[in-house]
Amino acid sequence: MRDTIARLPGSKIREVANAAMGRDDVLVFWFGESDEVTPEPVRSAAALSLQRGETFYSHNLGLIELRQSLADYCTSLHGAVDVERVAVTSSGVNALMLAMQLLAGAGDEVAAVVPLWPNLTAQAAIMGASVRRIALRPVRGRWTLDMDALRAAVTPATRVLLINAPNNPTGWTLTRDEQQAILAHCRRTGTWIVADEVYERLYFGGGPATPSFDETRPLAAPSLGETGPVAAPSFLDIAADDDRLVVAHSFSKSFLMTGWRLGWLVLPRGHLDAIGKLIEFNTSCAPVFVQRGGLAALQMAADFVPALVERLRGCRDRLIPQLAALPGVEVASPPGGMYAFFRVQGQDDSLAFAKQLVERHGLGLAPGVAFGAEGEGWLRWCFASRDPQRLDEGVQRLARALGL
Ligand SMILES: Cc1ncc(COP(=O)(O)O)c(C=O)c1O
Repeated sequence: MRDTIARLPGSKIREVANAAMGRDDVLVFWFGESDEVTPEPVRSAAALSLQRGETFYSHNLGLIELRQSLADYCTSLHGAVDVERVAVTSSGVNALMLAMQLLAGAGDEVAAVVPLWPNLTAQAAIMGASVRRIALRPVRGRWTLDMDALRAAVTPATRVLLINAPNNPTGWTLTRDEQQAILAHCRRTGTWIVADEVYERLYFGGGPATPSFDETRPLAAPSLGETGPVAAPSFLDIAADDDRLVVAHSFSKSFLMTGWRLGWLVLPRGHLDAIGKLIEFNTSCAPVFVQRGGLAALQMAADFVPALVERLRGCRDRLIPQLAALPGVEVASPPGGMYAFFRVQGQDDSLAFAKQLVERHGLGLAPGVAFGAEGEGWLRWCFASRDPQRLDEGVQRLARALGL
């Protein structure tokens, strides 16, 4: 076995989950998925496809009608995206791995804004690249990117900049100004941007700065009135067709399709042949019946996604003030994603604390250290819950654990 693979760290979320093996009394918020089932029209479209006997390989790049539909969907959100830039992939994580295979090899340098879902940095390591980490910091109630630190870390030697916004686990979202500055800098250094925008639709809006992490009173959520913006700022809004930009997307989060394993990539012009070859050697294609489900999801996106975002906003606005009201808890209202990232005074070992919460109090959360050393001392709570009362019960368990 390659040393690099032997050295890859195992999932620390799984480590906590294993501590709950065989128990059915644990309230689980540790994985990044909703407990709502995929919408019925999507399931029916896939079932119909199977009944029709669509059980064969498709084109490496996906069904042309799905690619066209994805191009139209991206265009509706971000301005013209041509179908010649779109490839269907077998999940978001597969899209990201393909991007890494396309761009980074042994000895290359990859920079990443962290804390970050660990798969992205693991993929760079698998390719033999080294990873330079650029840490987000909690400043006055917001996770904040230090642009000087980013400029210092991304040099002409940097092959790829990995950036996930809205971010898992913090909810941090790039501003348009930051995006412009990053794009301009990467144009100068010749660095590729791999933008993980799988949470772009789970966006509640910027709104006013949330109160300081030091304040323990309930936090107000950023308010945008009845309806917020339809998507977080995307690099697709500002980049040219031929910029060194790859955007990774997924059906998992916006369409409640985590188990389907369907995603897509938007690439600069002229890269489809290369990505088609990589898809051939990885998975050959996404299953056709799954792609039919994806098509049905896009057809209902205009109604379905805003309603989902409102449900998630309700969950966020129910959970965050309750957490913030607990003495010793620091939390900010995330502008995007589906996670509350919080810390408890005096609890510096997030893995030990998460295991203790499961074992003694039946509360399943993800330890912040699973997202890198920068997340140590924090915990991640996925608030995508069909029954919001589960969130209340979870907070009560946390309060009991804190002796309150
Ligand atoms: C930041 C981020 N990117 C990508 C993904 C990949 O999603 P999927 O592989 O389910 O499409 C996830 C899933 O949790 C994620 O959190």
